[in-house]
Amino acid sequence: MTGVHWTGDVHDWRLAPREYGAIHFHSDDIYDCGWPVTLDLQIPADWKSGFHALRLRPVSTGNADADDAQGIETLITFFVTPAVNAKRASLAVLAPSMTYMAYANNALRLHAVHFEVLTERLLMLTGDDIYLQEHPEIGQSTYDHHIDGSGRAYSSWLRPVLNMRPRSSLGNLAIDTHFLDWLEEKGIDYEVITDVELDRQGPRALADYRVLATLSHPEYYSEAMMNGVMAFQNAGGRHLALGANGFYWRCAFHPKAPAAVEVRRGITGTRTWESQPGEVHLAGTGEPGALWRHSGFAPQKLIGVGFAAMVYDHAGYYLLTEGASNPRVAFAIEGISQGERIGDYGVRIGGAVGIELDRFDVALGSPPHAVMLATSHGLGPGSLPTPEEYRTTVHGLDGEQNALVRADMVFFETANGGAVFATGSISYVLSLSHNHYDNNISRITGNVIERFLNPEPFEMPS
Ligand SMILES: [Fe+2]
Repeated sequence: MTGVHWTGDVHDWRLAPREYGAIHFHSDDIYDCGWPVTLDLQIPADWKSGFHALRLRPVSTGNADADDAQGIETLITFFVTPAVNAKRASLAVLAPSMTYMAYANNALRLHAVHFEVLTERLLMLTGDDIYLQEHPEIGQSTYDHHIDGSGRAYSSWLRPVLNMRPRSSLGNLAIDTHFLDWLEEKGIDYEVITDVELDRQGPRALADYRVLATLSHPEYYSEAMMNGVMAFQNAGGRHLALGANGFYWRCAFHPKAPAAVEVRRGITGTRTWESQPGEVHLAGTGEPGALWRHSGFAPQKLIGVGFAAMVYDHAGYYLLTEGASNPRVAFAIEGISQGERIGDYGVRIGGAVGIELDRFDVALGSPPHAVMLATSHGLGPGSLPTPEEYRTTVHGLDGEQNALVRADMVFFETANGGAVFATGSISYVLSLSHNHYDNNISRITGNVIERFLNPEPFEMPS
């Protein structure tokens, strides 16, 4: 943190160590809870990679009915990545474990006064929420505050994580499992790797795959991860970006505490706390934190769309645009007609466009040759732009009057035969299973994956 000598002239601690002569400790900091090991699991080499969970139940009473009646169980998520030298599927699903950590033990429900207004719904507390309330010592998320009121900049996985698991409330991991479910239903072979491999290995982590799928909300990205995905795309890889508000925060695993993500919120963006003046640079790596957009690497540069708006109280759908008549996107919309509502159904409030939305913008770095083939409709007053999307508060910021409040579906080709397809909405994957998986969101997703798995190179338009 800044010290008594801080002049305000320098914002990067690396350039003026004398001005940063203080450390901010918090009585409720936690990195490693230090619990003794009670169970050790060796993963057999023939296990399929994927999202796994360890199910814990109380010690049996010896009576099956009584055991069931207790109904108590908990699930601990872990990821199994492919064994070294194992035969690889062509499709890699990237588990956004850095984002899962940033959200780990999110306690906004318990402590944020505006939570019901933020999410536009009644507050519901689960058993896990009550445990979190009663056991603050396990630590909260990078959305929460320390008890001295400062924002929590670190979150680690060396402690109980109550929310990133199956059957938890419908966010992050619970949403992402809807895409895995769809892959299983369709019989599409895949492997799972995580942000940790991408961060530690860079492009090497993706090099064996033809197609990369990123999930509903891959929000937190280190420099190595951004560059790793970009390198994959430019080496002929195909990237299906299934979510929104991804590739948003510039953050890092701490070099000295590699099980912790460090997030510095800066002074803009959709954020629940703000950095103190002079404290936007990461303590671990020194690089500027805050939004990738303000480091000149807006998500539009990577996947063609970037964060635009939030909508919690209702959902929208997509319609094809005029761009959809471009023969370059014919493969994606095969079987879909102009005027047909795409995704006006789904697990979450009946629509594929919802929660957080991304839009196309060449000025922010969307490739000029990208095709915006569909855009959202049905958003209204409850949809609002993220703060970095407006300079001045004026009437008409909401989705009823503001053309920037929308979700765009975008496709573009990359170097060496690669391509990117982005859906622009967190709720997108929550519509895949509708009508027994027979619906137009499922159809588009299947069309794109089928073409992306085909080795025939994509060609950049001349
Ligand atoms: Fe988020």
